[in-house]
Parts: sequence; C-alpha cells; structure tokens
Amino acid sequence: MKRAAERIGVLGTLHTILRRWSDRRSAGVADDNLPPPRLRSLVGGSADSAWFVGVGRASAAALRTAAIERGFDLDDPSIAVLDFGCGCGRTSRHWQRPIHGTDIRPELVAWCQQHLPGVYSVNDPEPPTLYSDASFDVVYAVSVFTHLTVDRQQQWLAEFARIIRPGGLLLLTTHGDRSAAENEALRDDEVSEYENGRIVVCYPREEGSNVCVAYHPAGSLARLTDDFDVERLSEALGGHDIHALVRRSAAADATQQAAS
Ligand SMILES: C[S@@+](CC[C@H](N)C(=O)[O-])C[C@H]1O[C@@H](n2cnc3c(N)ncnc32)[C@H](O)[C@@H]1O
Repeated sequence: MKRAAERIGVLGTLHTILRRWSDRRSAGVADDNLPPPRLRSLVGGSADSAWFVGVGRASAAALRTAAIERGFDLDDPSIAVLDFGCGCGRTSRHWQRPIHGTDIRPELVAWCQQHLPGVYSVNDPEPPTLYSDASFDVVYAVSVFTHLTVDRQQQWLAEFARIIRPGGLLLLTTHGDRSAAENEALRDDEVSEYENGRIVVCYPREEGSNVCVAYHPAGSLARLTDDFDVERLSEALGGHDIHALVRRSAAADATQQAAS
C-alpha cells in the first residue's frame, strides 16, 4: 500500500505540472459538460474538475504538436483517428471534430457515447478490436501503456500495426526518466532493471488499472515491435514521454523480414 501511495504522490506532481501547462486553443466540448467525479477519479486519481480539463487539454496539445510535425492534423475531420483507452474522454473532448474511441470499461465508454461527438466502443483487454485492417490514419493512447504488462503492450502494438494504414501514425505516452527517478517507490532491483534498459512493471496483476504502473527507459518500446519506426519525444507531455511510431509500409516489412 505504501508503494501505491507513493506512486499517487508522483502522479500528483505530474498533474500539478500539467495543470499549469495550459493550451489556449479552445476546447471541442464545453467545460461544463464533464463526466461525474467518480469517472474523473477513475481515469486520473483525482475528481478535481479543473485538473481533469487541464490535463486533457495539455495532452491534446502535446499530441496535436507531435502529429502536426509528422504531417497529420488531428483536428481535420478527413483524418481517421482512434483514442485507445479513451477513458471518459479527457483527451478526446478537446478535438474540434468527432473521433473514434475505445476502452475496456463500459461505464466510461457509455459516458462518452452519451455526451461526446464521435463513435465510442468497448474492447476486450486483449486484441483484436472490431476495427478493419488499415482503417485509421492515427491512433493514440494517453496513459494506457503506463498501465499494461509488457506482453500485453506487445499484443496491442501488433493490433495497432493491423488497424493503422501504412505510413499512419501511432502516438503513445509512457513515464519518462524523471518519473522513474522521482518515484522512490521503485525497489533497488527495479531501478537496476530500468537502468539496464528494461521496462519495469509494478503490480502487473492489476494490469489495466492505475495501480499497475509501467516505466519505459529509452529504446525499450522500440524493441517491442518491428512494424513501426519509433521516435521517443522525451518528456513531451510533462513528465511523460510521447513515442511517435510511423507504420512501416508492406515493402519495408518485407525487407525487414528478409533481413531477419
Ligand atoms: C489512466 S486512464 C487514461 C484514460 C485516458 N486515456 C485519459 O487520458 O484520460 C487508462 C485507461 O486505459 C484503459 N485501459 C486499460 N487497459 C486497456 C486495454 N487493454 N484496452 C483499452 N483500454 C484500456 C482504462 O480503462 C482507462 O480508461
């Protein structure tokens, strides 16, 4: 319990940073159309409404920048976008167009369906999703790989490779070096694992909930997939890294397979 409480302390620090980091671009959905405190708390560990809006806005701003730099305008309705692990729409509410969203928790998805523009569905904890091959230009997942075991991350990367078109973009957030360093809850052996470049997952049995926390050192995410070219944007979202993964083309896949 002590380690879990310490982790919540780290999240609090992150949230304070994110809350101060405001993006003045107007939100897609009015700030008075918020999910109830219980749902806000479920996705972020706090029911605070200003924090919920601020973190979501900061997340959308960071994703928007990362996508624009790679040629994708997430506010352009002609681009097919999926929010994976959408929760109760903390990020998706800030787009100026409807998108797709999916999550394992039916109560979160139900709120999105009833209150946000877009198409929201429930997925199983394991792939596949209901989406067709190559149906998205962009998939993003904010604070989702931070709560999955390594095996599950690998399964989902393979599923994203299926549903993202060649040349399409995947944006994932993970804890950055600062989060790992500031988190005194990591045991010495976990710190060594991290320093040796291996992903550390605390409380793996609680996978999918915020109690399970994963830390990704530099290079570790890229080793989980051959389907994407991976770039790590260090601490591009407060204490979180954003990973920008571009789906390789079939030709690149064939070259990769021939080489291995
Ligand atoms: C920390 S919350 C973040 C929610 C949202 N992305 C946001 O930023 O507000 C993590 C979310 O991932 C969802 N999740 C966990 N495992 C999942 C899985 N295997 N597939 C889809 N969603 C998952 C949880 O239900 C939860 O809504």
